[in-house]
Amino acid sequence: MACPVAIFGMGRFGRALAAALDRCEGGLVRIGGRGRPHSPRLALVTQPAEFVRGLPKRCIVVIAVRDDALAQLATTFAALHDINRLQFVHTSGVSGPGVFKPLADSGAVTGVFHVLQSLPPENGHERIPGSYAAIAGPADLVDDLRAVSRLLGVHAIELKPDQWTAYHAAAVLASNALLGLLETAGQILKDAGVPSAPQLLLPLVRGTLENAEALDLALALTGPVARGDTGSIRRHLELLQGDTRELYKAAMRAVVRLARRSGKTSPEKLAEINRLLN
Ligand SMILES: NC(=O)c1ccc[n+]([C@@H]2O[C@H](COP(=O)([O-])OP(=O)(O)OC[C@H]3O[C@@H](n4cnc5c(N)ncnc54)[C@H](OP(=O)(O)O)[C@@H]3O)[C@@H](O)[C@H]2O)c1
Repeated sequence: MACPVAIFGMGRFGRALAAALDRCEGGLVRIGGRGRPHSPRLALVTQPAEFVRGLPKRCIVVIAVRDDALAQLATTFAALHDINRLQFVHTSGVSGPGVFKPLADSGAVTGVFHVLQSLPPENGHERIPGSYAAIAGPADLVDDLRAVSRLLGVHAIELKPDQWTAYHAAAVLASNALLGLLETAGQILKDAGVPSAPQLLLPLVRGTLENAEALDLALALTGPVARGDTGSIRRHLELLQGDTRELYKAAMRAVVRLARRSGKTSPEKLAEINRLLN
């Protein structure tokens, strides 16, 4: 049985987590902070002192506010009475447990629960099952976070303190940078007057992701690098200019590394492509 959860901060993530816990009868006991309630079932408790009053022992208090508000809120909660019976987790992917030092110094148990997902503004709870979550904390809290993760259908991965920055850099590259790549690819199409940009790229991206999910990344790779087609790459480089050209070259060097791993393209062809890209 997962332990009770209270969520402070009803933004995009807080609302999605609250709705997901409600749907799996996950013992959501209180919601608070600023934002919008996720449903009429629980009222929003705005004041931290009132928010923690009467919460059950060993409750997980999830602080779901933007990263730069965490330190101040940790200090506010740390000053409250009887805080050491509670477990506090934040939902930031970059901060690690250290940002909750004021709470830890007050005797509260502290950790992290970061769901690795990009949530839409509404109905974000639908995207939570099947996601991964990075968790951290003392053993009992990690056990409780694993139980909550199971309830939500989330795969929990425990991170060490020195792994958070790498974890977050990888997540930003895979998610935010993907949108940057799509924006750039769409602009190339628009500059050439091709209609339906960038929408015509989206089924291609979806197909690529489905291949990546079903196969190893190296096996999912199609296109000129996998085929050793240097002529196509030369033509692309003749067309592209400035930052777009640099982005293409950097991204395609990563594709060459992937193709090398697959072993399907001849090393001579890959070396020739690498020379074009450097
Ligand atoms: N969005 C995602 O897809 C996603 C996914 C995984 C994890 N996360 C994590 O979830 C956390 C929150 O992100 P979010 O996207 O939900 O942000 P958000 O939409 O900006 O929501 C944050 C909420 O917290 C409230 N808040 C901020 N400071 C507060 C304070 N001092 N006291 C009370 N309430 C306060 C905000 O109210 P105001 O707007 O009035 O300031 C807002 O309602 C971040 O750590 C983020 O890394 C987000």
